[in-house]
Amino acid sequence: MRIALIGCGRIGRVHAESIALHPKAELVRVCDPMETAAREVAARFGGVPGSDVDAVLADPDIDAVVIASPTPTHVDLLTRAVAAGKAVMCEKPIDLDLARVDECRARIGDGASRVLVGFNRRFDPSFRAVRERVAAGEIGRLEQLVVISRDPAPSPAEYLATSGGLFRDMTIHDFDMARFFLGEVVEVSAMGSNLVADYITELGDIDGAVVTLRGADGALCHITNSRRCTFGYDQRLEAFGSLGMLSVDNLRPDGVRSYGAHGTEAASPYLDFFLDRYTPAYRAELDHFIEAIGNGTAPRPGFDDGRAALVLADAAGESLRTGRVVTVGGTR
Ligand SMILES: NC(=O)c1ccc[n+]([C@@H]2O[C@H](COP(=O)([O-])OP(=O)(O)OC[C@H]3O[C@@H](n4cnc5c(N)ncnc54)[C@H](O)[C@@H]3O)[C@@H](O)[C@H]2O)c1
Repeated sequence: MRIALIGCGRIGRVHAESIALHPKAELVRVCDPMETAAREVAARFGGVPGSDVDAVLADPDIDAVVIASPTPTHVDLLTRAVAAGKAVMCEKPIDLDLARVDECRARIGDGASRVLVGFNRRFDPSFRAVRERVAAGEIGRLEQLVVISRDPAPSPAEYLATSGGLFRDMTIHDFDMARFFLGEVVEVSAMGSNLVADYITELGDIDGAVVTLRGADGALCHITNSRRCTFGYDQRLEAFGSLGMLSVDNLRPDGVRSYGAHGTEAASPYLDFFLDRYTPAYRAELDHFIEAIGNGTAPRPGFDDGRAALVLADAAGESLRTGRVVTVGGTR
């Protein structure tokens, strides 16, 4: 698959490396309005650098584009890329505004079946194994899912000001995990807190949240988020069922534990942040995209999964504002 990368920032570089390492992929073009960023990525991972998106989309040699530019650019780039006949791997979220997402969906029509939305956690080997073992019946009927997701430290104010708020920026990954396990979600209840950073309060956002979801078949999901966690990137999950439980703990770079006069069992810190913790997931995500498009099947999570996670984020926002449980439908 001949791929162009649009957006050469933090996550763009991760995808560039995955493409460069994939035996069935070739990084043909890299595009960013900051030409130095495009040139740096091209020098490390290949491809012709440039800043002209039109030239990328008009290039008949390109089969697929990876959109890793800021969220407000996604809808326009995705719509144009699908119209140009490209398969698309688009970073999350599709957009912050559901109306714009729906407009985009109407424009791309059947082209949506060649779009993957970057909910990389579905491809984390441990989370995926739990999902497969739950589906195989190992813990009986799934009754409760617990998702813990805490960032090591809050992002700077400039990022948070345009992020769309905690639910649409951060919890959106966890809403997708909830749907990955529970399927359709029918109720959302959320509480938020401002205990971490004054500048987040001043931006009108929250910096911690607990969200409860009910699946259509009755199972519950409990999501805990914080923008700060002193012991690192806290990414855990528990699936509890009628016959037992499967859980995933945080990952460390190695399994070495230390014993000495200073104390015992001090282990290395957890993998630092998403770039380290989810490297295998980003690679597997790209691999799934290449395989699905190559086989003519729709990649998952697809456009409609991206929309469904945004519906849940908006419902959580409504619950936070009103103090009510919000009923949702059609998130499958
Ligand atoms: N899946 C994940 O784990 C994950 C992690 C981080 C970010 N993201 C998402 O990826 C996107 C990018 O985030 P980031 O942290 O890499 O941002 P970033 O600011 O580090 O990088 C964005 C890059 O896009 C470039 N850019 C701006 N406008 C552009 C345009 N019109 N066309 C092409 N390039 C353009 C910028 O110059 C910059 O180099 C966001 O939507 C974010 O939500 C996803």
